[in-house]
Amino acid sequence: MEESIIEEHDYELKNTNSENTGYTVKIKTEKCFTFTDKNTDEELTVIIPEILDPTYGMYVWPCSVVLAQYIWWHRKSIRNKTILELGAGTSLPGIVAAKCGADVVLSDSADLPQCRDNCQQSCHANGLAGVTVVGITWGRFDPGLLNLTSVDIILGSDCFYDTKDFEDILVTIAYLMDRNSNAEFWCTYQDRSSDRSLDYLLLKWNLKCEKIPLCTLMQSHLVWLVQHYLETIPYICG
Ligand SMILES: C[S@@+](CC[C@H](N)C(=O)[O-])C[C@H]1O[C@@H](n2cnc3c(N)ncnc32)[C@H](O)[C@@H]1O
Repeated sequence: MEESIIEEHDYELKNTNSENTGYTVKIKTEKCFTFTDKNTDEELTVIIPEILDPTYGMYVWPCSVVLAQYIWWHRKSIRNKTILELGAGTSLPGIVAAKCGADVVLSDSADLPQCRDNCQQSCHANGLAGVTVVGITWGRFDPGLLNLTSVDIILGSDCFYDTKDFEDILVTIAYLMDRNSNAEFWCTYQDRSSDRSLDYLLLKWNLKCEKIPLCTLMQSHLVWLVQHYLETIPYICG
């Protein structure tokens, strides 16, 4: 694995709004991430706007920093690949992929327009006019999902946090992999409870996964990175 460093800065406070709701103060900040490669002196800086809000998709989760770093390590192999990010929220991994030359589609729940706005804000902050943002709700066959042409890599950062969604996420992944048999799902999740397992659901949807070893710095977040592949046995829908 090549040597690289990620630096993270909380930018200056951009805007503090008292929104006059009586209860809510929305604080907007920007996070600045710099990815570097000591071997080649290459460097990439990404700005991610955040809104401190109870909605999960409004700020950068540790999983997305780990996945973005992994994408940076693999930047040569993702160039010109079509990449879809699910549950993208502030979209750090997808933005890094787009900056590294991938053709990126960002998605968040079709029911959460404010999260998709956040995806747009991240594109705007990084001068990415060519990135599409669509509504894809896990487990649902939204137009955003059905209208996708082809996908090489699916990204998911911290999507496996509520057990009620686990199967819905894998239904979407299984559907995409059935249509794109060489596609891979690169995903990071955080160990929040020892009694959560995807094993049964992976078996049910003919998916297998491989845990990717990370450097010590990344592991300190208690975040794991896995790649999922389609099992060779075709699954039968219905
Ligand atoms: C924990 S946040 C992670 C956000 C971002 N990927 C990150 O790691 O910083 C979970 C994300 O999943 C999205 N989400 C939640 N439920 C969803 C659903 N049913 N379908 C699609 N996206 C969903 C949220 O809007 C949010 O952006």
